Amino acid sequence: MFAAASIRTDSKAESYADLLVQARALLADEQDRIANAANFSALVYQALPQLNWAGFYFFDGVELVLGPFQGKPACVRIALERGVCGAAARLRQTQVVPDVHDFPGHIACDAASRSEIVVPLLHQGELIGVWDVDSPVPGRFDAVDQHGMQALCEVFLASLG
Ligand code: SME
Repeated sequence: MFAAASIRTDSKAESYADLLVQARALLADEQDRIANAANFSALVYQALPQLNWAGFYFFDGVELVLGPFQGKPACVRIALERGVCGAAARLRQTQVVPDVHDFPGHIACDAASRSEIVVPLLHQGELIGVWDVDSPVPGRFDAVDQHGMQALCEVFLASLG
């Protein structure tokens, strides 16, 4: 059994540093994408405060399709032209959105979401999907979150072999 240790919460950077260690341990012995995505979502959602959704959309070659996540049921398919997730996938750049109401084309899966961060997932140079995290708090994600989420995503990507 994996027992998630508590993480330091004095600073966001410390929280992410501890979470990185836990993510590496959790994914170390498994390469299955769905299994690791499921555990990764649960780990992050349980560990970080003020989140209402955390999960994956995988790229099927045409559009983004919902993968493992934590939170309320979400929209299943997202075209690359749409939403924050589509922008991250299309531009291959992390999107940090302080207020989703100000983002043209934002897709509201949970009306409670007020801010969002989406990290594109590139495996061996190919887009395989995005990692999407929502918060009910405006401005929840900053540069420390961006750095931390991107580092966590590298652990997920490395686990796939
Ligand atoms: N808000 C996202 C859609 C996915 S949900 O947040 C889970 C977007 O605009 O792409």
